[in-house]
Amino acid sequence: MKEFLNINNLSVSVDEKNIINNLNLKINQGEIHAIMGPNGSGKSTLSNVLAGKDGYSITNGNISFCEENLLEFSPDERANKGIFLAFQYPVEIPGVTNINFIKTALESKREFNGLDPLKPGDFLKLIKEKAKVLGIPEDRLKRQLNVGFSGGEKKRNEALQLMMLNPSLAILDETDSGLDVDAFKIVADAVNSTRSKENSMLIITHYQRLLERICPDFVHVFVNGSIIESGGPSLADEIEKNGYERFNNG
Ligand SMILES: Nc1ncnc2c1ncn2[C@@H]1O[C@H](COP(=O)(O)OP(=O)(O)OP(=O)(O)O)[C@@H](O)[C@H]1O
Ligand SMILES: [Mg+2]
Repeated sequence: MKEFLNINNLSVSVDEKNIINNLNLKINQGEIHAIMGPNGSGKSTLSNVLAGKDGYSITNGNISFCEENLLEFSPDERANKGIFLAFQYPVEIPGVTNINFIKTALESKREFNGLDPLKPGDFLKLIKEKAKVLGIPEDRLKRQLNVGFSGGEKKRNEALQLMMLNPSLAILDETDSGLDVDAFKIVADAVNSTRSKENSMLIITHYQRLLERICPDFVHVFVNGSIIESGGPSLADEIEKNGYERFNNG
């Protein structure tokens, strides 16, 4: 099986505070991994480091993606190579319409991979089709990205980007948080629809109910910046029932 992501002994600090501690994680092509962990344990920090956000010091270890050194690449290059991060807190970008943002991201990725841009008509057809699946009205596509979107609307929009970009490694940081019951099902089904033997996912969530719908191959418990236990979906059931006390006590 082809190895996609290999995080090896990774330690990361922010403002001299150690947040990720000797983390090891391997994700092979086609696998879905879920991370669950208490607030403040470093899950979003890990997603940001993978996506290439500034402000983090890698104090130890390395990360490879498709056998290349991921840390050498800019955030744009990482996106073009197939890494996608759905943010826990999607950013508002005034002046950039939602549809143009997605079009630019898609075209950049296609160009990087030697593909012609989609014909405008084909792009419009595709985005309208995906927006419909996610219950996103067409007028929201023309609005400025995330500006004034409700919390749940932002999360649906992250799912739209996921469906449009079809990344090889999707990192979903609490994409299920803040969704109403119906949106939760719609987004979980949308995530499932992007599942394939070619693509992998890293899903960060606080809720076992998402994992019930998505059925990850592995569940990892993330405490104090590292994975302290890994297992199958039953680990998520245990956390739902008993919380993190057992893990906090080592
Ligand atoms: N720029 C920063 N400056 C100082 N501390 C930071 C910074 N960024 C993150 N931290 C701290 O790092 C820790 C990990 O934060 P992170 O957002 O990764 O947690 P998380 O596991 O995603 O939590 P949650 O489940 O609440 O989303 C927290 O204690 C946070 O306050
Ligand atoms: Mg977080």
